Amino acid sequence: MERLIIKGGNQLHGEVNCSGAKNSGLPILASTILLDTPAKIGNLPHLQDITTMLELLNSMGALINFDEDGYIEIDSSNISLPEARYELVKTMRASILVMGPLVAKYGKAKISQPGGCNIGTRPIDFHLDGLEKMGAKIKSDARYIYLEADKLNPIDFIFPKISVTGTENLMMAAAIIEGKTVLKNCAKEPEVVELANFLNNCGANIVGAGESSIEINGAKSLKSDKWDVLFDRIEAGTYMVAGAITNGHVRINKIKPETIKIISSKLMEMGAIVNSGNDWVEVDATKSELISKDISTKPFPGFPTDMQAQFMALNSISNGSSIIEETVFENRFQHVGELKKMGADISLDKNKASVKGVSNLVGAVVSASDLRASASLVLAGLVGKNRTQIEDIYHIDRGYECIEEKLTKLGAEIFREPAEY
Ligand code: EPZ
Repeated sequence: MERLIIKGGNQLHGEVNCSGAKNSGLPILASTILLDTPAKIGNLPHLQDITTMLELLNSMGALINFDEDGYIEIDSSNISLPEARYELVKTMRASILVMGPLVAKYGKAKISQPGGCNIGTRPIDFHLDGLEKMGAKIKSDARYIYLEADKLNPIDFIFPKISVTGTENLMMAAAIIEGKTVLKNCAKEPEVVELANFLNNCGANIVGAGESSIEINGAKSLKSDKWDVLFDRIEAGTYMVAGAITNGHVRINKIKPETIKIISSKLMEMGAIVNSGNDWVEVDATKSELISKDISTKPFPGFPTDMQAQFMALNSISNGSSIIEETVFENRFQHVGELKKMGADISLDKNKASVKGVSNLVGAVVSASDLRASASLVLAGLVGKNRTQIEDIYHIDRGYECIEEKLTKLGAEIFREPAEY
């Protein structure tokens, strides 16, 4: 397995461009199942998860072309096999995003059980409850979930807990169900809003995305043209932390500052200087003695769980102590053990991590367990004395496009090494 090698100690300076957000591209690609015409989707990041979604759609019968202008032309209007098979779903649980569109458009779907992952059991009961209330007949066995529906009906549905892909799945299904569906206690993430904007651009009638309650009046037919997915706010936040943790000065271009407001304010609370324009944000920590601050993860617009691991690395090397509370997933502290190998002083009590800032971290051989945990190890490696070796970096390649090139451009000493075996 490839590994990343980082020699710590360099202050980062300069500019990077954000890539498109995988968590915006994945639902938009899945939603092409609802369309009666081909779609041209741009600004998709070159990441394994996007490739997996394209493979999944292609395996169901979608036709995919790569335009010379960087757009992907995808025609999912003639799905011949409404099935998300095990080999693909096991590598990317976001494959469940095809479920709502398939049932709504084709009246059936066969989806491999998504199972859990390193950060939690990650059930999909809200997705299934909603589709069942819409009229889908659902059976399952150890390997697959089978959904069938002669006709789906509009519903009023309240999510028991805020769910990003749950909101996206039911919103997509409702987009072509005749009548008015009302979804309550919805996720407000920018990626949910972007999906609604894309579908409305195709002729859907979705009102209230970004709020707690979303009203969807089903459309008879959806047609698409060109669309660029949103830029990645979690990637942007990760590079903001990279600038802060190295006491550097970095600027991230192509990002909507309103999508990272809470990250900017947390960094300012810690003592960094953060400025922004209409499509950029800049972090200057060259003169900052950063102070460790408490964090409690929440659904958007609260502090994103996808930034928790990155800020744990930052707090580990900042002055003072802090508590980091993870309220979204039940097991998202896998990075703690690895950060402690590098000298971090962290103790766990259920879903709370108590972090005491240390004067320096030391490079070590560490292993990535999930996408954002691996990002926190890269950040720790940037400041860790000597050399950090991060194993199992396929996790990081799922969410960060060209991470070593972008960090090298900012002055980091980082390279990818093929594993011997
Ligand atoms: C999305 O996952 C993101 N993935 C995750 O990003 C992100 O961490 C998460 O939202 C929270 O923001 C994509 O968008 C592809 P949830 P999702 O449903 O939708 C519970 C990354 O790093 N729940 O909002 O799967 C669930 O267990 C990934 O890019 C149920 O109980 O998360 C969790 O505790 C990691 N039943 C909470 O809700 C359900 O049916 C929030 O999960 C659905 C969810």
